[in-house]
Amino acid sequence: MSAGKPSSRTGKIAVAITGASGALYAVKTVAELLARGVHVELVVSDYGRRLLRDELGDDASLEKLLPYLAAKYGDSVNAGAMTVHSNRDLGATIASGSHNCSAMAIVPCSMKTLAGIAHGLSRNLVERAADVMLKEQRRLVIVPRETPMSLPALKNMVLCAEAGAMIVPAMPAFYQQPKSLDDLADFMAGKILSALGFEHDLYPAWTGQVGS
Ligand SMILES: Cc1cc2nc3c(=O)[nH]c(=O)nc-3n(C[C@H](O)[C@H](O)[C@H](O)COP(=O)(O)O)c2cc1C
Repeated sequence: MSAGKPSSRTGKIAVAITGASGALYAVKTVAELLARGVHVELVVSDYGRRLLRDELGDDASLEKLLPYLAAKYGDSVNAGAMTVHSNRDLGATIASGSHNCSAMAIVPCSMKTLAGIAHGLSRNLVERAADVMLKEQRRLVIVPRETPMSLPALKNMVLCAEAGAMIVPAMPAFYQQPKSLDDLADFMAGKILSALGFEHDLYPAWTGQVGS
């Protein structure tokens, strides 16, 4: 099946953070969306909450996320809006196809959540909102992270891709000569923004030569 349509550049976009390594990719992605005036509808799994704290510190805990983003990325994040949904609330706006949420990114996506989406389980809001994107043929960007990958995980990625999702693995490149972890996060956030239909300059366009 064809991939879902890219989103318009403004409006509402769902972002899910689950319990796979790579919280820095998530916060950079959310900050970039906010800076573009997007209304981010955020849902964080229990292990996603843990990953935010474990990898980025207590200041990045869900309750303090907006001030954390402003401190790290600047006041530009105030251009957008953020609504935080409970992962247990299957009655939240993004659980329905009638809600005008144009796209969703799951960053990072655990193998457990990937499995739930691949098999249409809708056990929580992350899985349900992803299922809504697939059934409505809207853009769903899944950023899986695990290594090595089991055969079930590989097959689950194929199932999601066949259903219309874009699989954007958390695999930063090195040809842009990153100097910091933030440079690596910029690369992944740029890939995610591109998949969501946004322009960006988070990494230099390939010119045919490294470092030019
Ligand atoms: C520190 C830490 C790192 C983890 N990293 C990964 C990972 O990279 N990929 C993955 O699939 N699961 C990872 N897990 C396991 C998931 O968090 C676990 O399977 C969890 O049940 C996922 O639930 P969720 O998808 O609802 O967040 C990690 C767990 C912890 C505590």
